[in-house]
Amino acid sequence: MDAVADYYGRFAALEARGSSAIFEDWALGIAGDVEVRSLIAHLPRPKQQANLVFAASRSKGAPLAEYDVFREWLLSRWAEVVPVVLARSTQTNEAARCATLLPHIASISGPVALLEVGASAGLCLYPDRYSYRYHSAGTLHKVDPKDGPSSVVLDCDLRGALDVPIRLPDVFWRGGVDLNPIDVTDIDSLNWLEALVWPEHDERRARLRAAARIVAQDPPLLVAGDLNAEVANRAAQAPDDATLVVFHSAVLAYLEVEDRDRFVDQVSALDAVWLSNEGVAVLPELAAQLPTGIAVNGDFVLAKNGVPVALTARHGQYYRALPTT
Ligand SMILES: C[S@@+](CC[C@H](N)C(=O)[O-])C[C@H]1O[C@@H](n2cnc3c(N)ncnc32)[C@H](O)[C@@H]1O
Repeated sequence: MDAVADYYGRFAALEARGSSAIFEDWALGIAGDVEVRSLIAHLPRPKQQANLVFAASRSKGAPLAEYDVFREWLLSRWAEVVPVVLARSTQTNEAARCATLLPHIASISGPVALLEVGASAGLCLYPDRYSYRYHSAGTLHKVDPKDGPSSVVLDCDLRGALDVPIRLPDVFWRGGVDLNPIDVTDIDSLNWLEALVWPEHDERRARLRAAARIVAQDPPLLVAGDLNAEVANRAAQAPDDATLVVFHSAVLAYLEVEDRDRFVDQVSALDAVWLSNEGVAVLPELAAQLPTGIAVNGDFVLAKNGVPVALTARHGQYYRALPTT
């Protein structure tokens, strides 16, 4: 089996199944389709990702139909899809991840300065502007901004021993770094972020639009650059009278292993709280600290200052506190 078939087959089984029936069908179809696979195989390797090919196709109007219909469309419109694939990248920005980061930001007393590396459009830099509905041991806990409920309401199940956040943080400063910062006031960029949300995920699309409206009213300062080149400079710009929180979510998988190590060394040396929310395979030094036999499935490992504290759902739907030793 060739690499494209193998990858699309795994994408169907491990990522799309249970989350997007359409993408599962498309990915399985491509895994068994020599003609479409050979088109994809001619793309540069990092551009062969299913997420990218599917989002580019949807941005050009691909029908959300069964594989045979999609295939026909793709073969006839490939020349239009390719430039989008080459120009764009997977920058999915999920504001709901704030629900799993909040327990460790809101528990800091006094003002905080937030620095996100791999920020995309910076939607996760606004944890103080969203409303939270935490479900814990059969009780609903509501946390809202001071001026009332937000148009972005994040539901999250809290499991295990953890103090439910009761307040939002006082965010004095927010900064971000991204290879390609997204400006939410630019309609083409926002449309691209929407195209990256999977077809059946209407709730996420609505949340994206609502969060983008909040961010557009007070846009963050996002610097273009590599996180290893910029993190120390940006950290130095944060105000001294606030606790600096450096965080990242669904980012380090895009880096080579040696660059991840370099980043860990840099962030560990900063006078900052460091929150890492990444796939389990991304930072083996964190995975090695997980309790023996724990089922991670597709969860992220949330770590504070290099110590895993929770397993979190990729789109912020739950937070499973890990036992403390
Ligand atoms: C999947 S998005 C996640 C965005 C956001 N952190 C979230 O959780 O919603 C990953 C982001 O990381 C950025 N990125 C990848 N490699 C990077 C690097 N070496 N330096 C800075 N940003 C990077 C990408 O451009 C993209 O916007």
